[in-house]
Amino acid sequence: MASKFVTPTLTDQPTDGSLPILEGTLGPAAVDIQTLFARQGILAYDPGFRSTASCKSSITFVDGDNGVLLYRGYPIEELAQHSNFVEVAYLLMNGELPTPNQLRTFQNELLDFNLLHDQVMSFFRGFRRDAHPMAVMVGVVGALSAFYHDVIDLQNPADRHRAAIRLIAKMPMIAAASYTYSVGRPQRYPNNELDYSSNFLQMMFGRPNREHKVDPVLARAFDVILILHADHEQNASTSTVRMAASSGANPFACVAAGIASLWGPAHGGANEAVLKMLSEIGTVENIPKVIARAKDKSSSFRLMGFGHRVYKNFDPRSRVIQQQASQVLTHLGIDDPLLEIAMRLEEIATKDEYFVERKLYPNVDFYSGILLRAMGFPVNMFTAVFALARTAGWVSHWLELQSENHGIDRPRQLYVGSGKRSYPANK
Ligand code: SDX
Repeated sequence: MASKFVTPTLTDQPTDGSLPILEGTLGPAAVDIQTLFARQGILAYDPGFRSTASCKSSITFVDGDNGVLLYRGYPIEELAQHSNFVEVAYLLMNGELPTPNQLRTFQNELLDFNLLHDQVMSFFRGFRRDAHPMAVMVGVVGALSAFYHDVIDLQNPADRHRAAIRLIAKMPMIAAASYTYSVGRPQRYPNNELDYSSNFLQMMFGRPNREHKVDPVLARAFDVILILHADHEQNASTSTVRMAASSGANPFACVAAGIASLWGPAHGGANEAVLKMLSEIGTVENIPKVIARAKDKSSSFRLMGFGHRVYKNFDPRSRVIQQQASQVLTHLGIDDPLLEIAMRLEEIATKDEYFVERKLYPNVDFYSGILLRAMGFPVNMFTAVFALARTAGWVSHWLELQSENHGIDRPRQLYVGSGKRSYPANK
């Protein structure tokens, strides 16, 4: 229980001990507390970082109250409709949409680096066949730091750029191989005649002994999934990448740490958890029971795919994914009962006082699993797809952090443990 209180007063003029207010381009202002401890010997306490801006960034902006998501200022809905993942990756990394020449150069760089060193393929064989693809991706991406360590001088912009290209270029083969290895299928190599999404789909679902024609409707739907998942400000996995990068760690090791963080069911692992939840619900009649469980404080159960730390309105991505899911299911002639259950669940939950009061809406993970399942992805590959997309955001934040100089991320703590005591003499 607090015994003292401080009431910050907003003033136009600095006074002794006052802290400056920083204004960004969009969104909430921030109190600059960098000198607070040095000047006042007191820390700010914010577990979970609900009220903390960890850095300045120009990459992505989320307005949670109005359901707005901008990549370098461009609304996610417009990018999903008019752009493609490779162009969006360029935009996130460089800050501007590429000219046709810049896009061609960028595409060719990705094609030049999309193969895995043949020895990397042996890393997969060290895993059990039933290893979760996210565990495999953490291991293999981390292992790439052993292949590309001495060749990366973080002070050299060309080396930084090449590391970012290597990560975006190689992730499709790593993700596809994390799946094909689990089903004992020899891995197909990239086909440089295909676009990024089609290439991944042929590596994922193609067999080495026959041609594999990628359905253009599915390739476009998958590309939209990659665009929607590419970045999202300082989410847990991106903050993990940034924190690892702040010590000067190898970029492949930093992204491996990001994959590990994304895997959690409270984060990117939610898309897999949503599918399991919808399957367990089974029929629309069971929805009231599940809603009651999600509201029951004595239960740790949460409605997976619902709620968000920042969005207190609809996640704009979930709307686009829901449309894509309906289109793909129609295109494939699939009548997936889980889509109807999901839509009814959304309808009931978003009218229920508990969810309305807490501003809990469907997030990006709520419909993505239904779309990925319709495309043939096994449930345990859903988060691997998220990691494939988010690599563009992770490398963009890694690059942005290299140009900052705020030093290593080293939070303090509010110590509540034992006071100093001596080792017992009679021990
Ligand atoms: C992603 O950060 C990002 O940007 C992430 C992401 C990205 O692109 O990187 O958008 C991707 O991770 C989306 C989120 C996917 N996770 C899930 O769908 C898992 C289910 N959602 C929850 O675990 C939760 O909503 C979080 C983790 C997403 C957000 O948690 P917060 O912000 O810490 O919210 P909270 O725990 O403070 O909840 C506030 C209240 C609590 O009730 P009270 O204590 O006030 O009574 O809302 C309740 C919570 O119990 N609540 C839920 C709920 N989410 C919050 N109750 C039931 N079901 C839920 N899903």
